Amino acid sequence: MIDQFDIVVIGSGIAGLTTALAAAPKRVALITRGALSRDGSSRWAQGGIAAAIGADDTPLLHAQDTLVAGQYLNDRSAVDRLTSVAPQTVRWLAAIGAQFDTRENARHEKRFVLGREAAHSRARIVHAGGDASGAEIMRALAKAVGDAGHITVFEQSQASDLLTAHERICGAAVRGPQGDFAIAAAAVVLATGGIGALYRYTTNPSTADGSGIALALRAGAVLSDMEFVQFHPTALAPLSGHSGQLPLLTEALRGAGAILINAGGRRFMLAHSPAAELAPRDVVARAVWAELERGGQVFLDARKAVGAAFPQRFPTVFAACQVRGIDPREQPIPVVPAEHYLMGGVRVDVHAASSLPGLYAVGECACSGVHGANRLASNSLLEGLVFGRELGVHLARGNVSTASHIAEFTPRNIEPATQERAQKIGDVLWRNAGLVRDATGLFSAREQLAALLHDCAEAAQDADRIRVAQSIVDAALARRDSIGAHYRRDAVAANTAASG
Ligand code: SIN
Repeated sequence: MIDQFDIVVIGSGIAGLTTALAAAPKRVALITRGALSRDGSSRWAQGGIAAAIGADDTPLLHAQDTLVAGQYLNDRSAVDRLTSVAPQTVRWLAAIGAQFDTRENARHEKRFVLGREAAHSRARIVHAGGDASGAEIMRALAKAVGDAGHITVFEQSQASDLLTAHERICGAAVRGPQGDFAIAAAAVVLATGGIGALYRYTTNPSTADGSGIALALRAGAVLSDMEFVQFHPTALAPLSGHSGQLPLLTEALRGAGAILINAGGRRFMLAHSPAAELAPRDVVARAVWAELERGGQVFLDARKAVGAAFPQRFPTVFAACQVRGIDPREQPIPVVPAEHYLMGGVRVDVHAASSLPGLYAVGECACSGVHGANRLASNSLLEGLVFGRELGVHLARGNVSTASHIAEFTPRNIEPATQERAQKIGDVLWRNAGLVRDATGLFSAREQLAALLHDCAEAAQDADRIRVAQSIVDAALARRDSIGAHYRRDAVAANTAASG
């Protein structure tokens, strides 16, 4: 069966839903691997949306913080586009029903509560439900998508291949609950999120496995900045032997004064940076890694800073701790760093167009250059919203050519990823292409991944994952100095300056 739409959006996180909504009145097919609003990383986001809303703030200051965090490898015009419309984007989300945390001022007017996170020079983070920002924003967006007549949602469905005709991408092959089908469309938008599931530990869900990047790679699209992988310093330490998604302990906890201590109860971050726990994310993550590599343990201690207010202020983190039998009001929380965000991805231009005509990418799977070498905290939901809206509007204005007619297609028989290989890929990347890298480890990773690929069927999801992993390793080998989230301990002139 071949369905005909104007646009097919693959992925239902914040970027995918926003693109689909903004593309009205074009007819949009939205493909999601799970149920709408239950799939993707966005709903797990605890930190909120950065926007220059405060009286002491400006988009320029926000842009400067974004550039400093990105070590000036950012695309300046993308940064300006992101930061200049951030305030109005937050207001748009509130207008469609997202309930942000607000308080009344002296004149009884409601104002957003603005939090502060590492490497931000102002308090500018808008939250919802304390630490449940992603879930609330996704609820509001999913409701809007459900109400939108121009969007058809294909749930429990996965894009297995991109279709090509006349040298342009003209649709996607999809495997749904009823079997294989194809969607022909003039524009195909990848909004498939990140790659966390390729690493041993991640804050991302298991579907963040680089599937969209793999589709783009197979079709021949150009990727960039794949070496820039961000690790969050504080995920809840797993029970022994566990890998995969770990609960996030939001940076806002450190913003509220929580400190990092080792097993001896000693605070160690001051030895790494004068900003201590609020040093840029990569600095904190590497310091935690170093403690763990020495065989120690690391804990986030919020007893003094948050204490009895923990359940109200950080309900999501509190619930995750409770599941593990930890009471963060009384006990320090054991932490490990975990893969959190990919700054690189499918290279796109100002209109989110990839190097292949007809193929677009938005959100975490795309590399617009906005984050440079390291993403500033709470710029990721913002990126999905701002660039998703821009792309949807661009496509709605008729900036897509007519869909090529597809008479037939050959479904790609994707074999599901195997637990054993996923674990091997996770271990190879974690040890060799993680927080601290060197040529020996990266060459070893290259060999191990090649051997794993050799043993996989071409059509296996394992092969897709390995190819994405290889692109990270190759990019990390090519960049021989340290910058931002990419840290080479064998760098000749290591640039270890602060990044965000
Ligand atoms: C956090 O809440 O610590 C994550 C925020 C982000 O990654 O932007």
